[in-house]
Amino acid sequence: MIRVLSGIQPSGELHIGNYFGAIQAWVNDQHSFDSFFTIVDLHAITVEHSPEELRSNTLSLAMTLLAAGLDPQICTIFVQSHVSAHAELSWLLECTATYGELSRMTQFKEKGRSDESIRAGLFTYPALMAADILLYQAERVPVGEDQRQHLELTRDIAIRFNTKYGETFKIPEATIPPLGARVMDLAHPTKKMSKSAKSRAGTIFILDSPDEIAKKVGRAVTDAENRVEYDADRKPGVTNLLEIYCAATGENPSEVASRHKMYGDLKKSATDALVALLEPLQARYIELSKDPAEVGRILKLGSQKAMDIAAPTLKMAKNNIGLVIP
Ligand code: TRP
Repeated sequence: MIRVLSGIQPSGELHIGNYFGAIQAWVNDQHSFDSFFTIVDLHAITVEHSPEELRSNTLSLAMTLLAAGLDPQICTIFVQSHVSAHAELSWLLECTATYGELSRMTQFKEKGRSDESIRAGLFTYPALMAADILLYQAERVPVGEDQRQHLELTRDIAIRFNTKYGETFKIPEATIPPLGARVMDLAHPTKKMSKSAKSRAGTIFILDSPDEIAKKVGRAVTDAENRVEYDADRKPGVTNLLEIYCAATGENPSEVASRHKMYGDLKKSATDALVALLEPLQARYIELSKDPAEVGRILKLGSQKAMDIAAPTLKMAKNNIGLVIP
């Protein structure tokens, strides 16, 4: 069976952009592929962070993923730092990647190449990400468009390692969702929905209550025409609401547009669809949060399954690069 691996950072609450852009696809993928999903806590410490928040975000993200339908009986869900092979292989890959390659990563350049106080780990971040993927010999890596460059680098590193030291890693491929999967900020519909937005008003978090969802959707920016049409250039706000509704229901945006006359109708439908989608997820989240021991048990089992697959790859990589295997 084809193996899939993807990762998500435990940096703040998940929103519906994460859900429709990634989590939903993971939940589907788990039925068709041998799937590994990891909460990348080691990546979260590459930027300024609070230790207490990181710990609680990690557990909360695990519960959210389980509540969203990742089934630990079917897929492997684990915390990156629980599998020490990630940090170990990362070093070998830091010694395979070059300074030039890492310097060219857009994400690094944007987050602060020019800032002397940024963490060295932010620079080597892509080598750790490559380790996450290559350890499992994953063939498919579902990621957002913003991660395409990191995937290209992962492939380059893997090919270089294989060429220099002998066949070790499968060469992975990114699977990038279609652009329609991009959810925009409700208050700024030309910007992507993001957890780092200055105001929470345009972001619907997965754990938002039905009242909060109704309020945010009700205040979503549209335009002065009050005519529902599916047209991202002319009507970004309305189009975003149509796409959110359709992401939640699986319907077709043009059809939905023709069924709704005024913006109020569309906002009501979008609210109802989101509440219907998120309410059962939130109920499962609450159940899980009452049983932290169960969550701990699931994560432990996940890391054991992950280790079983990662260990032989790490051993082969160490051997091929010339380390003495004890
Ligand atoms: N860098 C990814 C992001 O910020 C997260 C990530 C880390 C990842 N390791 C990964 C994604 C491995 C896919 C595969 O979104």
